[in-house]
Amino acid sequence: MNSRLQINPSRLLQRLEQLAQKGAQENGGVSRLALSDADKDGRDLFVTWLKELGLIVQVDQVGNIFGLRPGQENLPPVMFGSHLDTVRNGGRYDGAYGVLAALEVLQTLIEHEIQTRRPLVAVAFTNEEGARYVPDMLGSLAFVGDLSVEEAWAAKGFDGTQFGVELQRIGYAGSLSPGALCPHAYVELHVEQGPVLEQEGLTIGVVEHVTGIDWLEVTICGAANHAGTTPTELRRDAGLAAAKIIQYLRQIALDLGGNQRATCGILHFEPEIINVIPGKATLTVDLRNTEAEALQEAERRLRAFADRLMQDDHVEIEIRQLAYTRPESFAPQVTEVIAWSAQAMGYSYRHMVSGAGHDAQIMARKYPTAMIFIPSRDGVSHSPQEYSSPEDIEAGANVLLHTVLKLAEQ
Ligand code: HGY
Ligand code: MN
Ligand code: MN
Repeated sequence: MNSRLQINPSRLLQRLEQLAQKGAQENGGVSRLALSDADKDGRDLFVTWLKELGLIVQVDQVGNIFGLRPGQENLPPVMFGSHLDTVRNGGRYDGAYGVLAALEVLQTLIEHEIQTRRPLVAVAFTNEEGARYVPDMLGSLAFVGDLSVEEAWAAKGFDGTQFGVELQRIGYAGSLSPGALCPHAYVELHVEQGPVLEQEGLTIGVVEHVTGIDWLEVTICGAANHAGTTPTELRRDAGLAAAKIIQYLRQIALDLGGNQRATCGILHFEPEIINVIPGKATLTVDLRNTEAEALQEAERRLRAFADRLMQDDHVEIEIRQLAYTRPESFAPQVTEVIAWSAQAMGYSYRHMVSGAGHDAQIMARKYPTAMIFIPSRDGVSHSPQEYSSPEDIEAGANVLLHTVLKLAEQ
């Protein structure tokens, strides 16, 4: 390996800054919800950069963007990238870093006139976050064939819009059928979004396993009534029942321990008036565990609690699954190459698990796949405070460069 071959860090940092302007928030955060105008702006910028490099740009029927560089031989390509969409008021590295590092790897190889045996493909997957449209990881699900284009296009947003209509509106309803480019391997570079690497003073994470994610919608129906005249014992308070469920989510996480996580991210009351007992409450639940059985147990406990609550509080509760993504292990033949690259470049590293979901866990269902992490300051993500240092950003991209080079010669 030629460890002197390295990416151009200032160019990568500058592009991260430019992309962060698309959907920039006053507080330094970024909002680029999938298929929004800001997402379109970010996509347009990425496509412009791909075209400037002379890459073959293709868009598939769910809006996944590919930048292809031919290899010496017409073999299945090495694919690498991430996503451009963000959560609302999120950070500037989640997703964007993996996509722009992929672009930087391609530009570095072009500048050094290095043509690999296999073709190389940089990718930006659509709607990884699921912050607007469910399911999350929609683009990679369609790519591996676990979601049809029709199902994707029919997806309803939390804002009442329809995926297919918005995709056409922003001009990214491509013609390529998802999965047409079958990769030899897929590698995703991403910020850790957790505290492990920083706490251990390490630079690179070789990710071996990703958590499972269970998204649920809970609808509680009680009786709207007067906040003053309704005696406490006669209340059918959907708001109180929602509060009890949110409290119980924490209990599930504490009782199951380990990697179990439980979050209520969205909560609505109706009629949402100061002097009316909520007649209806809807909330979302995000359950996670790296073990599938434990994740199922977490949902079972929530459902059992809701059954008891219906009796105790005289409310009706319906729990609907919005999306389920199983935990996934990555391919040793790819994690080995990542560890080899980190070692050869002289970066400290460790093998680890991801508590965040990623397109890579979907791609791993069908193709040899693994991930590279760099440290997140204070482990913070999905927040304007998300930050990774220029040195770590450079290190991660160099490990991606040499991992891709090695896989492309296989
Ligand atoms: O929710 C997640 O874990 C990822 O950021 N989409
Ligand atoms: Mn991400
Ligand atoms: Mn994210």
